[in-house]
Amino acid sequence: MEISKPLLVFFSLVFFNLSFSWAAPDPTYQSLLQCLSEIIPSPNVSAVIVSNNNPSFASILESRIHNARFNRTSTLKPTIIITPSDESHVSAAVICSQKVGFQLKIRSGGHDYEALSYTSDKPFFLLDMYNLRDVSVDIPDESAWVQTGATLGELYYHIWEKSNAHGFPAGVCPTVGVGGHIGGAGYGTMIRKYGLTTDYVIDAKIVDVNGKILDRKAMGEDLFWAIRGAGGTNFGVVTAYKIKLVKVPEKVTVFRVERFLDNNGTEVAFKWQTVGATTDPNLFTRMLLQPNMKDKQRTVKVTVMGLYLGDINGLLTLLNKDFPELRLNKENCTEMPWIDSVLWWANFDLGTPPNVLLDRNNTDTKFVKRKSDYVQTPIPRDGLESLWQKMVQNEKVGLTCNSYGGKMDEIDPKETAFPHRKGNLYKIQYSINWDDPSIEADIKYTTQAKAVHEFMTQFVSKNPRRAYLNYRDIDIGSAKTWSYEEGKVYGESYFAENFDRLVDVKTAVDPNNFFRNEQSIPPRSTKTA
Ligand SMILES: Cc1cc2nc3c(=O)[nH]c(=O)nc-3n(C[C@H](O)[C@H](O)[C@H](O)COP(=O)(O)OP(=O)(O)OC[C@H]3O[C@@H](n4cnc5c(N)ncnc54)[C@H](O)[C@@H]3O)c2cc1C
Ligand SMILES: *[C@@H]1O[C@H](CO)[C@@H](O)[C@H](O)[C@H]1NC(C)=O
Ligand SMILES: *[C@@H]1O[C@H](CO)[C@@H](O)[C@H](O)[C@H]1NC(C)=O
Ligand SMILES: *[C@@H]1O[C@H](CO)[C@@H](O)[C@H](O)[C@H]1NC(C)=O
Ligand SMILES: *[C@@H]1O[C@H](CO)[C@@H](O)[C@H](O)[C@H]1NC(C)=O
Ligand SMILES: *[C@@H]1O[C@H](CO)[C@@H](O)[C@H](O)[C@H]1NC(C)=O
Repeated sequence: MEISKPLLVFFSLVFFNLSFSWAAPDPTYQSLLQCLSEIIPSPNVSAVIVSNNNPSFASILESRIHNARFNRTSTLKPTIIITPSDESHVSAAVICSQKVGFQLKIRSGGHDYEALSYTSDKPFFLLDMYNLRDVSVDIPDESAWVQTGATLGELYYHIWEKSNAHGFPAGVCPTVGVGGHIGGAGYGTMIRKYGLTTDYVIDAKIVDVNGKILDRKAMGEDLFWAIRGAGGTNFGVVTAYKIKLVKVPEKVTVFRVERFLDNNGTEVAFKWQTVGATTDPNLFTRMLLQPNMKDKQRTVKVTVMGLYLGDINGLLTLLNKDFPELRLNKENCTEMPWIDSVLWWANFDLGTPPNVLLDRNNTDTKFVKRKSDYVQTPIPRDGLESLWQKMVQNEKVGLTCNSYGGKMDEIDPKETAFPHRKGNLYKIQYSINWDDPSIEADIKYTTQAKAVHEFMTQFVSKNPRRAYLNYRDIDIGSAKTWSYEEGKVYGESYFAENFDRLVDVKTAVDPNNFFRNEQSIPPRSTKTA
């Protein structure tokens, strides 16, 4: 029997009313459900919203918390979690959050180091994108559509399933979300050969403040420029990116060499700064500077690890010419298919099958703090010696230095919203992890990170001192009123000369500042409620 549409609507309304009066008599929940059910055309709407007395609320929230500092009982939790399983649900969430008068925080993988994707100091709704994670790979076209709730691991896996001659120049941690990562100009171990993830975005879908779903053509080139580097957060919810894949050789080579200060460690670190950025773009190297104990003495360990898009012999010839101080030899190198190098960088044992990349489970979440810097002139040897002293005093802070140069020198800083291109030798990530849950430990270890960062002022970029958006650091500045002046503080660190154009885009697409977080781009004049 055919049921007429009005009758169906009637039954649905009765069903919703019953379901929320049993599950959650909370008026905010009722208003949101009411609004969503007017837009989402099926009883499925109740599966899209999760109230805080729903038994699965905590597990959904905690599955994508990657910094234990923001998993405390004192952390304000979202009032409601919205879990869209269709793009139209995202539109409904945007429209209804405004109607009900709540801020909407957007989370894909949840790796934001300051948890701006899932915390706030005022009541908020959380839009969790994890059910929107289709990856459709088109090898003949060398492209893919990726929904933002997918992880990098899922993306790599689905490319590999279809071709071992293709890859994507994204980051090393497989559980990082496509949404935040690509929006913030994520990078990985092919940055010197190919540039950034954003350099391979050829189309996107964004839900704007009116709930409209716009592709590249509909959003226009200004907004499309802005979401490549400044993220969606400021302008709308990105539901998918269309990306161009890159070619990878049949075999690549990885290596890792460790040296201590009493074994020419300073010399290796000094030389790495320029070699890393000037050698063949087929070679990416990362240098880790870590406080370490050796012979009961505090010292610093210098580790150089790398990915070479070629074979062992090619790599040895290259590095014995460009970087003999490293004393790299055959035993330090391993040849493998590109997908295995993805697993190697993610610290899986050799021989682990690629399907572990599909595992989204959150394991062993630490308390963490990260900061970043860009280095444009090599730190002199005596500067490095003084850094070692500082690191020994602040015994838990490590520096991860990622070489630039190559393709990064060829792309104009204004081509996308991401400005840190030519002239940077490397980027530093300061990192500190700990397990002690006390607030005292928080203060102690964040203070250590600040001390090392402060000490580095003399060696790094100035006016503005640059920082990497994806290494979110709230110490750079935080918005309370979203005035232009407030935004300029962190905005110029992250976006340098591109900040003003981002303000223009923001003013055009979201003048009332609905899409905001503690470090978002302000509109020209603020009318934030
Ligand atoms: C263990 C670890 C390893 C990392 N390794 C790398 C690396 O190798 N290379 C690198 O470049 N970075 C790396 N990062 C940083 C990472 O790229 C950023 O934290 C990135 O923003 C995370 O994206 P996400 O979707 O997981 O985070 P989320 O916390 O979900 O989002 C980050 C930001 O983007 C916004 N956002 C998320 N999804 C959307 C969307 N769909 N539409 C609009 N706005 C959205 C959020 O609101 C938030 O402001 C790493 C981080 C961690 C924790
Ligand atoms: C509603 O949910 C059911 C069960 O989860 C699913 O099979 C169906 O496709 C959904 N319908 C819509 C319109 O989303
Ligand atoms: C968050 O805290 C809860 C409750 O203490 C705990 O069960 C869970 O494992 C924690 N999760 C993360 C990711 O820290
Ligand atoms: C690199 O190779 C040399 C010579 O085989 C060896 O002594 C050293 O331990 C290897 N590994 C590292 C990490 O340096
Ligand atoms: C390397 O270290 C050794 C001692 O371990 C020293 O003799 C040699 O001069 C050092 N080389 C350089 C280039 O500093
Ligand atoms: C991940 O979590 C799911 C659900 O809790 C579980 O079924 C699965 O076995 C876990 N995977 C791994 C590799 O631990």
